[in-house]
Amino acid sequence: MSKTVVLKCGGSTVHQLSESFFHSLQALISSNWRVLIVHGGGPDITNMLKALKIETEFYNGQRKTTEEVLEVAEMVLAGKINKHLTGLLNEKGLKSIGLSGTDDQLLLADFLDKENLGMVGKVTSVHTAAVELLMDNGYIPVVAPLASTETHDTLNVNADLAAAAIANAVGAEKFLFVTDVPGILNKEKEVIETVTPSQIDELIKNEIITGGMIPKVESAVSTLSDICQEVMIVSGQQAFIEKDAFKGTKIVSEKEVLSS
Ligand SMILES: Nc1ncnc2c1ncn2[C@@H]1O[C@H](COP(=O)(O)OP(=O)(O)OP(=O)(O)O)[C@@H](O)[C@H]1O
Ligand SMILES: [Mg+2]
Repeated sequence: MSKTVVLKCGGSTVHQLSESFFHSLQALISSNWRVLIVHGGGPDITNMLKALKIETEFYNGQRKTTEEVLEVAEMVLAGKINKHLTGLLNEKGLKSIGLSGTDDQLLLADFLDKENLGMVGKVTSVHTAAVELLMDNGYIPVVAPLASTETHDTLNVNADLAAAAIANAVGAEKFLFVTDVPGILNKEKEVIETVTPSQIDELIKNEIITGGMIPKVESAVSTLSDICQEVMIVSGQQAFIEKDAFKGTKIVSEKEVLSS
């Protein structure tokens, strides 16, 4: 059976994906990997809310998602960005089909903190039938990070967490976060080649890892397992495979460090 790689493509990078990024994707597909992409969309949502003059409140750095904000988020994520990405992939000869996480209840979720964050979800289960069907037939499913509740409300889900839930559910062997930086940077702004969960805790504590990198590393750590031993943070602006090796920061379990 072919192996599966899940890529989370950041909203920060979907408009700047380089030719070499697509070459790396083509290389994976040529080596018989099944590919699934989950994308974000923060900057485009912010721009659309501004254009529509919708005021938003923040709680602990996270935007409160009212019904009105959710409507815009769904429009931007499942419409604009999802179609942009599938369009690009199809243009490069990579067959892809766009889905919202609500389609066929791919992502089921509960409210994360209804009172303070509004319509934001935390994934409770993943129904992978449709994406398995697509991947088994040579398509790349491209998923917008929205989820349904048991009572059919739609919720917005952090794309890093949505991708991690899907990577776990499909039993992905590789999980790549494609973002606007070449990896996790240290104090000197150099890319850290490999990092363990306890080193990540230190980097967060020392405020070297901040902001949008926090949900990314937390999602990365949550997917490390005997099946998924390769979780990486890579740049969308360059090739992520060079000479058969992945380029970026590799997140490994403490166990792997001890045994190497
Ligand atoms: N130690 C670090 N190394 C690298 N980047 C870091 C670090 N700490 C914080 N960051 C920030 O994390 C950002 C990447 O996360 P961000 O959430 O902005 O992008 P994304 O997840 O790719 O996009 P989106 O959230 O729209 O899906 C970087 O642009 C950088 O500003
Ligand atoms: Mg982010």
